[in-house]
Amino acid sequence: MTYMPESVWELNITPNVTNGVGAIEELGAIGGEFGTGSALVVTDPGLVEAGIIDEVTATIDAFEYTVFDGVEPDPAVGVFETAIEEANAVDPDLVVGVGGGSAMDVAKTTSVVAEHGGDVLDYVAPPTGAGEPVPGPGIPTVAVPTTAGTGAETSPVTVISLPEEDLKVGISSRYQRPDTAVLDPALSVSLPPGPTASSGMDALSHAIEAYVTRPYDAKPAPEHRSERPDYNGRSPVTDLFAKSAIERIGDNLRAAVDNGQNLDARREMLLGSFMAGAAFTNAGLGATHAIAMAAGAIHHTPHGVTIAHALPAVMRYNATSAYDRYAEIAEILGEDTSGLSRDESSEAAARAVEKLAADVGIDGGLSALGIGDSDVAHLAERANQLERLLAGNPRRIDRDDLEAIIRDAL
Ligand SMILES: [Fe+2]
Repeated sequence: MTYMPESVWELNITPNVTNGVGAIEELGAIGGEFGTGSALVVTDPGLVEAGIIDEVTATIDAFEYTVFDGVEPDPAVGVFETAIEEANAVDPDLVVGVGGGSAMDVAKTTSVVAEHGGDVLDYVAPPTGAGEPVPGPGIPTVAVPTTAGTGAETSPVTVISLPEEDLKVGISSRYQRPDTAVLDPALSVSLPPGPTASSGMDALSHAIEAYVTRPYDAKPAPEHRSERPDYNGRSPVTDLFAKSAIERIGDNLRAAVDNGQNLDARREMLLGSFMAGAAFTNAGLGATHAIAMAAGAIHHTPHGVTIAHALPAVMRYNATSAYDRYAEIAEILGEDTSGLSRDESSEAAARAVEKLAADVGIDGGLSALGIGDSDVAHLAERANQLERLLAGNPRRIDRDDLEAIIRDAL
């Protein structure tokens, strides 16, 4: 069969973004646009304790609301099931996910499974799940991120842990993308420096991987629109989002870590994280995420920190396939590349990322997370299975290359 290159790209993002200090005050009005009955707020116990949920529910007091605060980091399938039971009991007109990626993910999947029935695993891709498509829109959903990192507020994907199998699986459906994202920096000021740093490095990696990922027209054309993958390659628009995100994060992450109450820095980080999310959920990611997903599944390492350690090594490996783009990234991150060779400019980009990570307290490499020499082969093997992520890596990559990269990142 003749190879047909893709000639079309799509951009799918959360249709309404309500952004700025005080944006959360508009949640009641936003909810009213979807009906004024009952709401289910999905969150984690930390945000209830910090009083943030009181601030959020105060804005929806016209609703009969119920708070489900059973979300935990890397939520297991059981957490999703409990949230769905809660939704079935409440029968809400609106689901509001407040928190990091985990809370937003639980809210998103709850919205579609509570609407359409079935089990969570029915919608997970085979071989683990039944791979049934989500048949239509779920309950209207608002995502309220309180960390700047995952981009879950504009992502169609949710990540579900199966702890007994040491496995993370996902549901991907356009119907899981929230209807509205409320980005209010005032809700993120109490996030401690450690999680601020790691989620910020995650967001930076989303932008950098999306900026260098393969372009849409270097991919095969699908037979039908419905078969076009979520990660359909970089486009002029994902480039815009990615570059702006790199700049915002590069300019503001240190300030957000140094003083959590710096509202300007928090606002730029939330916006940067959203833009990075808009870029990568359309363009795709690369080997950094393959390595971090594998390490997360096997060694339960925290995502953002793992990413921060793996990203410079992946950038060095990929340099030959994306020289110009890495040189731009170096410039955006404040490096002077005038007079530098292509190799030196790419190296400057990798070093700028290392420097940023170290400045926000993340250093020591993957070995600081307990990953040693003897773990490298297995980790590379597992990362090499993550084809959806590796398909976007700008440079061809195999198991041996992944081993070399991981060793470099130890
Ligand atoms: Fe990530």
